[in-house]
Amino acid sequence: MNSITDLIYNRRTVRRFQPRRIAFSSLKSIVDSGRLAPSGANLQPLEFIVVDDDEIIGNLFPHTQWAGYLPEKDGRPPQGQEPTAYIVVLLNRNIRAQGGERDVGAAIENMILIALDEDIGSCWLGSINREAIEKLLNIPPSYDIDSVLALGYAAEHPIMEPSSDSIKYYKDESGVLHVPKRPLDNVLHHNTF
Ligand SMILES: Cc1cc2nc3c(=O)[nH]c(=O)nc-3n(C[C@H](O)[C@H](O)[C@H](O)COP(=O)(O)O)c2cc1C
Repeated sequence: MNSITDLIYNRRTVRRFQPRRIAFSSLKSIVDSGRLAPSGANLQPLEFIVVDDDEIIGNLFPHTQWAGYLPEKDGRPPQGQEPTAYIVVLLNRNIRAQGGERDVGAAIENMILIALDEDIGSCWLGSINREAIEKLLNIPPSYDIDSVLALGYAAEHPIMEPSSDSIKYYKDESGVLHVPKRPLDNVLHHNTF
């Protein structure tokens, strides 16, 4: 088991995956970590669809968008390096009529870190065709799709670096993804602004 510090500091969004299945037991543990996340008023409006069926995975992929700052060929996972599972994060509107996005954030970060603890990489997808995915997965009208978490064993290892003038991630000549992060001194205010 990795320390939470190592997981947080080593985590990077992955968009290239090995063609290796994820055991359903691992996917279940990942969802369990989402279930246990903090929830406003402890309402727990989140539900999760685990997609690990090859045909459904293939049908879901066209409804996802990848790495908006990169040209399509560098962003979107190429054939043979697509995600091998998805977790679709739903908000049950019978439990919570509106809001709940902060609950989603907490749950997804838990799931990303618990996945990584098992060497499973992930990409949080917000740019998705919700209407098409609702139809594909037969989701009832009382649920909203918030996000989709794409999962798979990593076939790329992006690098984090301090940002200077741009926050846009980019690929270098070797095809390695660099992810600029604002330096701590730029975001930390002490006592007063
Ligand atoms: C709310 C949210 C939505 C995102 N949606 C997408 C998406 O649709 N497609 C994608 O390729 N990445 C998406 N990402 C991943 C971000 O691009 C990524 O987190 C960012 O570039 C920083 O990289 P890092 O996760 O390695 O720190 C999303 C991340 C968040 C938090």
